[in-house]
Amino acid sequence: MIAPIPADTKHPVKKNPAENLSTNLPQHVAIIMDGNGRWAKSQHLPRIEGHRAGVESIRDTLRACNELGIPYLTLYAFSNENWQRPKDEVSFLMRLLSEYLDQELKELNKNNIRFQVIGRKDMLPAEIQKKIERNVKETVGNKKLVLTLALSYSGRLELVDAVRKIAQKIKDGSLELKDITESTIEENLYTVGLPDPDFLIRTSGEMRISNFLLWQMSYTEIYVTDVLWPDFRKQHFIDAIEAYQKRERRFGRTNLPQ
Ligand code: IPE
Ligand code: IPE
Ligand code: MG
Repeated sequence: MIAPIPADTKHPVKKNPAENLSTNLPQHVAIIMDGNGRWAKSQHLPRIEGHRAGVESIRDTLRACNELGIPYLTLYAFSNENWQRPKDEVSFLMRLLSEYLDQELKELNKNNIRFQVIGRKDMLPAEIQKKIERNVKETVGNKKLVLTLALSYSGRLELVDAVRKIAQKIKDGSLELKDITESTIEENLYTVGLPDPDFLIRTSGEMRISNFLLWQMSYTEIYVTDVLWPDFRKQHFIDAIEAYQKRERRFGRTNLPQ
């Protein structure tokens, strides 16, 4: 059972949460955290305030995952394409990320959360790369939840990088062409070791993938909510999970795989 949720008039808690919330849980939830700019606009605030407010939604979502017992959470925090945003917004996002990496380390350890990052890490400022390395190292033994942040991430570039690694192995003779399978590709993606996401949540109503986990989402269930990311709270996450539990996943077959 999940712990009682404090009263919140803006996001009222349902009277009868599904009894079976703990069964048929997605093992890996991926989230496209979108709508920060629109949220800020709705509050007559600069866009960066939307990003700042979104940090609390990350904390609430982590709490929900931990309470429900979902072992993998992947958050799309900054895409490779997001580098093309105005310089001031990008610098603010990097500052926010840097602060987050410092503030959250203690919480991650307290809550038994292992931290990792996928994406072109080398594009990030050196100071942030160091903080990522530190957080990864200091949470490596944590077992309850794997939190993966997608930073400077592009699904297409992930495939380009995988092709390069595989081609290098062919070139140096450690891999033969006939031995290339789906597993070969999986083993050379940034997400090696992570199961494919069962469930994708996108906030702010946009019906697109935006270059996220292109290979890994071949059979992911997709859920889009109009809620803007800074308003997203534990109850919204639970609503999404309940929707997932009603889905029938068929993987191309006529009934559920046994
Ligand atoms: C998501 O919110 C955060 C990032 C992409 C970094 P946006 O900043 O995209 O917010 P909208 O889509 O403009 O409202
Ligand atoms: C996707 O949101 C990337 C992140 C949430 C980090 P965007 O706001 O960048 O995506 P588009 O431009 O609406 O597709
Ligand atoms: Mg957006």
